[in-house]
Amino acid sequence: MGHGALMLGHNYPSVMEAAQAQLALGTHYGASTLKEIEWAEEVTRTVPSAEVVRFTSSATEGTPMALRLRTHTGKSGVIKFDRHFHGWHDYVVASSKYSAGAPAGVPQATLDSVSVLPLEMGEVRRTVDERGDVGAIIVESAGASSGQLPVPRGFLHELQAFCRAQGIVFIMDEVVTGFRWAPGGVQEVEGLKPDLTTLAKILAGGFPGGAVAGSREVMEFLRFPDPGTKATKVGHPGTFNANPLSAAAGVACLREIADGRHQRRANDLSAQLRAG
Ligand SMILES: Cc1ncc(COP(=O)(O)O)c(C=O)c1O
Repeated sequence: MGHGALMLGHNYPSVMEAAQAQLALGTHYGASTLKEIEWAEEVTRTVPSAEVVRFTSSATEGTPMALRLRTHTGKSGVIKFDRHFHGWHDYVVASSKYSAGAPAGVPQATLDSVSVLPLEMGEVRRTVDERGDVGAIIVESAGASSGQLPVPRGFLHELQAFCRAQGIVFIMDEVVTGFRWAPGGVQEVEGLKPDLTTLAKILAGGFPGGAVAGSREVMEFLRFPDPGTKATKVGHPGTFNANPLSAAAGVACLREIADGRHQRRANDLSAQLRAG
């Protein structure tokens, strides 16, 4: 199922119709489109903590954006968890399922800025105290390997409260769990409100796409261009950011999920199968 991107299955009718209609209109207009706004509206109505959304072409572009947004804390250190996967970029590639040892080609200074920890609050507290520079913590919401190594019950709530108290950006990676655990992901099920959420896979209905969604307060640090304060902002130019084809498919896919139509269709199909 497309590494988890095709939650509705291959060639899901409403998603394919939306994509084909968009193909006839064009695949690139060079700047923001109304489809991008519709796409963002689907995310904000579904994901509880999403006030503002920025689209990328993959989560490997989205998770570094979320981590870069720790800039406003003035602290450069990062905590990630053992074997949690957030893409293949330099900050997160240490101790993912693809890289148990030192990852090739990553500067030592980058590796040194990231602490890789077990899912234990004692370790988190100790590391934050010792380093004194932790600006962001990123966690795979259901645990490593799509939840095969689950997050202990209560851990995410404790982590969120700790991040709030310490002024650390709390990032939930909902690339696998978003729109799947519940339409609003693990944060909907658990009643959490991360500062930032990373999304991809189902988000774009089977086309390339990712996003960072979060509180207006933190997402403000993405505003660009802003000549007066450029140095303190995170820039995000990208040729295919929020491209209209992925947006069209994403809107159709997220509407199916938010309205529960995919569930009714699945029930109808299985009733037809049972009836022979
Ligand atoms: C939890 C998680 N985060 C991030 C990623 C990276 O996503 P992408 O393949 O869109 O770069 C993945 C991909 O499998 C993932 O499972």
